[in-house]
Amino acid sequence: MAQERTAGLTKNLSGDLPRHIAIIMDGNGRWAKERGWPRTQGHLEGVKRVDEVVKAASDMGIKALTLYTFSTENWTRPEAEVSMLMQTLVSVIAQKLKKLHANGVRFRFSGRREGAPSAVLETFDRAVEYTRDNTGLLLNIAFNYGGRLEILDAVRALARECMSNVTTPEAIDEKVFSDHLYTKGIPDPDLLIRTSGEKRLSNFLLWQLSYAEFYFTDKYWPDFTPDEFVKAVRDYQSRGRRFGGVEALKGGAS
Ligand code: IPE
Ligand code: IPE
Ligand code: MG
Repeated sequence: MAQERTAGLTKNLSGDLPRHIAIIMDGNGRWAKERGWPRTQGHLEGVKRVDEVVKAASDMGIKALTLYTFSTENWTRPEAEVSMLMQTLVSVIAQKLKKLHANGVRFRFSGRREGAPSAVLETFDRAVEYTRDNTGLLLNIAFNYGGRLEILDAVRALARECMSNVTTPEAIDEKVFSDHLYTKGIPDPDLLIRTSGEKRLSNFLLWQLSYAEFYFTDKYWPDFTPDEFVKAVRDYQSRGRRFGGVEALKGGAS
């Protein structure tokens, strides 16, 4: 039923699809607070939307989906919330892995390994390894992710390569730099979605989003159904992308 519904929604999507969609899934806490519930209840409801949106993206033929699950700044949250989020990530991936694998989903992890709990890293590593040969949706999980740290990590790696004569400063171009980011090999996002009404990047994909189309919605993440996802893609398709030129390319022409 849900699948038919997604297929139905997708049928009306004429035009080019974004190759890569990145989502800042925000508003779980406020969604719960509005109902007088603990913030953790919002995260649990948010997990359901993750499941549905991943399925919708996969059914629609989107090539890559990056989900911001935990930032390098989120460690400042109360310990109980942080540990709930860690446990949820581990258990949800373990639970869904087989089904996602059957749907051809390929996992990627983008973030700093240092400082990430080993149980979470092991879960990600297992999911990446298990799905490595799949050719469907690339599901990139941004965890312990910070855009500035990612850029610094790349700068440090390149500085080391220069010092050991593996490369030269002149050889560092945009492609080389991109290849030193956590997102190596993944095309830059065409569309960035942020839920919950906030209009900021919160340290997300600072380099990669340079020419992405931005879509902001007041919906809290637990209210962001596949219909809302399709709405965002439709909005993207109505945009004219110029990339600094004069000719407007239709959304998706990247
Ligand atoms: C997003 O929802 C989930 C994570 C950051 C893990 P929030 O928890 O930020 O919810 P709000 O923004 O406080 O409502
Ligand atoms: C961004 O949301 C991080 C994630 C969605 C994982 P935040 O809720 O942490 O962002 P701020 O604090 O409102 O900027
Ligand atoms: Mg938030």
